[in-house]
Amino acid sequence: MTNQRMRALLEASPVRLAPMASFTNVPFRRVAIGCGSGFTTNEEIDADGLIRESETSLALMRMDPALGAVAMQLLGNSAETLVPAAVRLVEAGADIIDINMGCPVRKVVTKGKGAAMMRDVAETARVLSALRRALDGVPLTIKIRGGWDDQHCNAVEVAQMAEEVGVDAITVHPRTRAQRFGGRAPWDLIGDVVEAVSIPVTGNGDVTSLTEARRMMSETGCASVMIGRAALGRPWIFDAAYDALDADGRAAYEQRVVDEHIWLIDECFEGREALTQMKKHLAKYIGERPGTRRLRAEMFAQTSEAALREVFARQFEVVETVTA
Ligand SMILES: Cc1cc2nc3c(=O)[nH]c(=O)nc-3n(C[C@H](O)[C@H](O)[C@H](O)COP(=O)(O)O)c2cc1C
Repeated sequence: MTNQRMRALLEASPVRLAPMASFTNVPFRRVAIGCGSGFTTNEEIDADGLIRESETSLALMRMDPALGAVAMQLLGNSAETLVPAAVRLVEAGADIIDINMGCPVRKVVTKGKGAAMMRDVAETARVLSALRRALDGVPLTIKIRGGWDDQHCNAVEVAQMAEEVGVDAITVHPRTRAQRFGGRAPWDLIGDVVEAVSIPVTGNGDVTSLTEARRMMSETGCASVMIGRAALGRPWIFDAAYDALDADGRAAYEQRVVDEHIWLIDECFEGREALTQMKKHLAKYIGERPGTRRLRAEMFAQTSEAALREVFARQFEVVETVTA
């Protein structure tokens, strides 16, 4: 039953924004959805922090009706905290609970969380079973990597275990934890997972356009695709209509998106947090082109929103003119 709901959601969301800590909050997810992304997943929330009611974790629980269905992602290492944290998120309105089993960050994996969950398959099976029992009727998904390192590339084993304990869908970013973000993501491993399980698989890694997303789906058989880094500063990546526009049309589209994003950041955050968010995202909209490092440094040096927006507006215009 939950699996049918999950399949329907995935069918309606073939390409969507990947979760990215400190970027994929409500404003950016609303912007991505406005551009055509399917349902979104929040940035990871630490289950221990949520249970302790840490301010940071509670702030990350923010949801918004404009997002439609939401997947809320948890980071944890035991059923003792993951289960109550997941129940709390469902009570707060989460439609799907996703467990992060791919985060490669040292301070995360040393606590047995993130990608470290792929190392102890038996214990992770117990944790996922407990979540499955507690989340009756709520889709439960996991996001995994290829494995810990080249010697322990066990995505297929982990995916099969997950299917057995009742997980409804899996996202695979096929790099190992040891690879972090280096080299090319080995898409063939996504295909291996698709072959090995009958629950839907979402592919992820190095997709930079809708054309690439379609290629990933046809080469691996995955049911849907998540796009992460390539959507930062380019949320229009989700809109096929954008590609068909001429240079003026694209510039107008981009300006509209940036204006909306700024407005949403102001609506959701206050003071220092709003300024930080604006700097992070506006710096991404500037993109990576010759001379943009200096432009970004100037933006990060600003101490008020008004000044930041003024520098950005000047720079965004320069970039538009240079690339038009
Ligand atoms: C800044 C940053 C933050 C990330 N945070 C998360 C996260 O909170 N949860 C998660 O599952 N993956 C996270 N990821 C991984 C992405 O979701 C994605 O798997 C990875 O970037 C590969 O996809 P891409 O090549 O499309 O970027 C993060 C990646 C980046 C670059």
